[in-house]
Amino acid sequence: MSNDSHQPVCVVTGASRGLGRALCQEFEDRGFQVAGASRSALPDNSEGLAAHDSVNVQDERRVREFANSVVARHGRIDVWVNNAAVMEVFRVADGDAERWNRILGTNLLGVVNGSAVFAEHVRGRPGAGVLINLTAGSARAARPGWAAYSASKAAVERLTEAVAAEERDAGLRAFCVSPGAMDTAMQRSLWELPESEFPEARELRERAARGLIGDCRDIARRIAEEAGAQLRPGAPEPDPVFLPFRAS
Ligand SMILES: NC(=O)c1ccc[n+]([C@@H]2O[C@H](COP(=O)([O-])OP(=O)(O)OC[C@H]3O[C@@H](n4cnc5c(N)ncnc54)[C@H](OP(=O)(O)O)[C@@H]3O)[C@@H](O)[C@H]2O)c1
Repeated sequence: MSNDSHQPVCVVTGASRGLGRALCQEFEDRGFQVAGASRSALPDNSEGLAAHDSVNVQDERRVREFANSVVARHGRIDVWVNNAAVMEVFRVADGDAERWNRILGTNLLGVVNGSAVFAEHVRGRPGAGVLINLTAGSARAARPGWAAYSASKAAVERLTEAVAAEERDAGLRAFCVSPGAMDTAMQRSLWELPESEFPEARELRERAARGLIGDCRDIARRIAEEAGAQLRPGAPEPDPVFLPFRAS
């Protein structure tokens, strides 16, 4: 068992691509031991990147097993980022239980599972722990077709506020990050939707063409900076929703 108390430990869910993968790289570059998780394996060109486990965040038992294995490997967990999420655009009247379960199961219950397991871990050991849950601007602005995704992220914001207050005395610092639009697989899946189904697709493509879309490596850097600041003793309370570049 490696237990280097000088090297902080970070868990990132949704680590196989996009922001999650950039976060793994960024935390590693800052000297963290990193454990990533997602359902699929890492792509072939990810040699050298963080240890990676196959975990479906909807599976509470598997999330707990994963957390235990990280603690067995590294001794403790200092930062936990609930980044895994899925996005599907459909109108409320066209939705079905399967779609709602997929989105709420991943984006909300997946965050519940990670938050609960990490909060329990922080309670049981000395020192601070930083919990970061990914939200989105659409948590605060409903748009046609975004009901399930927006509802899941709005719920994540309230859940995070609650757990921050509940576990403050145990040393947990919990906040959300609203990264703004980033050029990832999730974002690109929206550009490709037919405008009949999703009229905003053209606007999003145009914003991307004008360079008005974030690079997840820049966002990852800002998140890791904030996580590092929150780990320092006496750090001021985090904002409930951290905006990496003051955009939502
Ligand atoms: N991209 C944007 O413009 C944007 C804007 C605002 C907020 N966000 C938020 O930022 C975060 C990262 O988004 P992204 O754009 O990087 O997304 P992405 O490219 O689609 O990546 C999502 C990651 O989540 C993993 N994942 C999905 N379902 C999972 C499950 N059930 N269990 C474990 N892992 C799962 C995926 O891997 P597997 O498929 O292998 O499991 C993948 O690694 C998300 O929370 C998203 O809602 C994104």
